[in-house]
Amino acid sequence: MRNETKIIPIAGGKGGIGKSLIAANLSIALAQLGHSTIVIDLDLGGSNLHLMLGLQNENRGIGDYVHNPKLPFESLCVQTEWPHLKFIPGDGTTPFLANISYAGKQNIIKEIQNLSAEYIILDLGAGTSFNTLDFFQIVNRGILVTSGDRISLINMLSFLKNFLLRTIDRTLPRNSKARIQIQDIYSQSSNRAKVTINSVLNTIRSSDAEAANHISRLCKNIQPRIVYNMIHGLQELRLVNIINKSAKNILSINPSHMGVVFVDQAVPDSIRNSVSLLRYDEKSIAAQCIFCLAGDITQSWDEDLSEADQVYIKKTTDLFNKFTE
Ligand SMILES: Nc1ncnc2c1ncn2[C@@H]1O[C@H](COP(=O)(O)OP(=O)(O)OP(=O)(O)O)[C@@H](O)[C@H]1O
Ligand SMILES: [Mg+2]
Repeated sequence: MRNETKIIPIAGGKGGIGKSLIAANLSIALAQLGHSTIVIDLDLGGSNLHLMLGLQNENRGIGDYVHNPKLPFESLCVQTEWPHLKFIPGDGTTPFLANISYAGKQNIIKEIQNLSAEYIILDLGAGTSFNTLDFFQIVNRGILVTSGDRISLINMLSFLKNFLLRTIDRTLPRNSKARIQIQDIYSQSSNRAKVTINSVLNTIRSSDAEAANHISRLCKNIQPRIVYNMIHGLQELRLVNIINKSAKNILSINPSHMGVVFVDQAVPDSIRNSVSLLRYDEKSIAAQCIFCLAGDITQSWDEDLSEADQVYIKKTTDLFNKFTE
């Protein structure tokens, strides 16, 4: 992968919580800041990112590439109205691509890693399909979007759980004792977990210390950044601690809080008018939150943010107060 390129996948367990909105407008904001950016619709079978960018679905996309891997991948890039932003459609002119082969997926990942841009933003599908988990796994740090509602939060924790287990599954030998022990975690609900990664690791450690250390290292390396979308008010920010605690206690994963996008009528209005949110009303609170997120990404994406929650909460509070005073 080119050193200077940052790939940022955007996922979240639940559908309809704003992944595409944030992928599109974050990409526009990064491009407006002068960074060359490519945004890719990887919600195969449910592509609609073009709508958030104010574009028609009339260009070739990943679907066409899957059917014809001889197509130069870079030729799929569509120039947008923002000089630094290109877009690669998903289903494009060849739809119904939810199922692609493992080899096909690896091929797409390789092509993405060879693209030339400062930022490559990936809009992923809802849920925890292997496609979504594997695209999220391209890098250690991705963005998880959730709203403040209970189902969305539980789905996000389920996403993290499935992501972690898939990562472990793919690195431990088949039929290894450790792999069988870890399967227990699959069957429990995410918010009422009785088996934690730590408790399984303690069991594994007594018979296979190397596997246990390996899994600990994997957990440490997974550093998702959470963006809370459609937030109604500051009281919902208490969620940050609750979610981070659950992820840490149950999954031994340390997510960090990376910002908030408040609920805003400008979002549905912009979609109804077939333009991006940032084009529709860049002064709206949702647009300002996304500009803030873009600025934070350019400044601190590579840093360890595990202690930065309070800094981000203060920024969000200041922004919210500016709009409501
Ligand atoms: N901050 C917000 N304020 C108001 N409405 C919002 C906000 N964010 C998203 N929405 C609404 O939620 C809907 C779903 O958004 P979006 O398509 O980005 O979600 P998604 O997570 O990508 O969905 P899918 O899982 O189907 O891909 C949009 O139609 C939009 O109107
Ligand atoms: Mg979407």
